[in-house]
Amino acid sequence: MSENHELFISGDGSHTLISPIFQTSYHSLHGAIQESEIVFINAGLEYLKAKSHQNIFVFEMGFGTGLNAILAKIWAAQNNIKLCYHTVEAYPVPMEVIYKLNYHNIIGNQQDFIDLHHLSWSRLHTLSEYFDFCKWDGTLEEIELEPKFDAIFFDAFGPSTQPDLWNIGIMSKMYDMLNDGGVLTSFCAQGAFKRHLKSAGFMVDALPGPPGKREMTRAVKVKMI
Ligand SMILES: C[S@@+](CC[C@H](N)C(=O)[O-])C[C@H]1O[C@@H](n2cnc3c(N)ncnc32)[C@H](O)[C@@H]1O
Repeated sequence: MSENHELFISGDGSHTLISPIFQTSYHSLHGAIQESEIVFINAGLEYLKAKSHQNIFVFEMGFGTGLNAILAKIWAAQNNIKLCYHTVEAYPVPMEVIYKLNYHNIIGNQQDFIDLHHLSWSRLHTLSEYFDFCKWDGTLEEIELEPKFDAIFFDAFGPSTQPDLWNIGIMSKMYDMLNDGGVLTSFCAQGAFKRHLKSAGFMVDALPGPPGKREMTRAVKVKMI
C-alpha cells in the first residue's frame, strides 16, 4: 500500500503526497508549506493571536502528513502561545512514507515531526510548554470530542473528492465544536461550501488564497448577544 503514496515536489519545493485511495494530492501543488502557512497559520492562528488569545484549542480535520501540526507547534513556540492541538485521521500515512518527506529541509524540526507520527493515538501528550497534542484514529463523521475549540483547520480532500465531508451536516457539527468567536479556515472557496457554512450559523469571509488560488475561506462563529 505505502508504495502507492506518490511523492510530489510542490511549487515551493516542499513535498506533498498523492493519495492512493482518493487519487488526489494532500496539499496545493503550487506549494504545500505555503498553503498550510497561509490557510491555517495566518488565517487561523494569527487571526486569534490578533484578538489576544493566549491559549488556543485547535481541531484539525485530517492529520495526513502532519505538516499543519508541525507548523502549528513551531508557531506556538515562536509566539509563546499555548496550543492544545487535536487532529483526526481515518487513513494514516505509513511511516516509511513519512520518513521520505522533505519538510525538515525547509522548516527543520525533523525529530519533532517524526515524533508526532510515533505518538500513541487517542491520548493527550504534552510535548512542550506550548504544545499539547492528541491524534484520534477515526473518522470526522464519528468523532465526538469533549473540549470546544477556538480554531478548526478544515483540511479534508476537496468537495469534488469527498462531497460528504463538505455538507450542511458536517458544517453544523463544526459550528457546534467551536467556542464563540472561534474560527474555521479552509483552502476551499466553493460557493456551496460557503452557503453551508452560512446556513450552519457562521459569518463567512472570502480571503485571498495561497498561490494558484484566488480565494480561500474563513468562517467565524460570532458570539450571540
Ligand atoms: C487534504 S489531506 C490533509 C493534509 C494534512 N492536513 C496535512 O497537513 O498533511 C486530507 C486528510 O483527511 C483524511 N481523511 C479522509 N477522509 C476522512 C474522514 N472521513 N475522517 C478523517 N480523516 C479523513 C485523509 O486520509 C487525509 O489524510
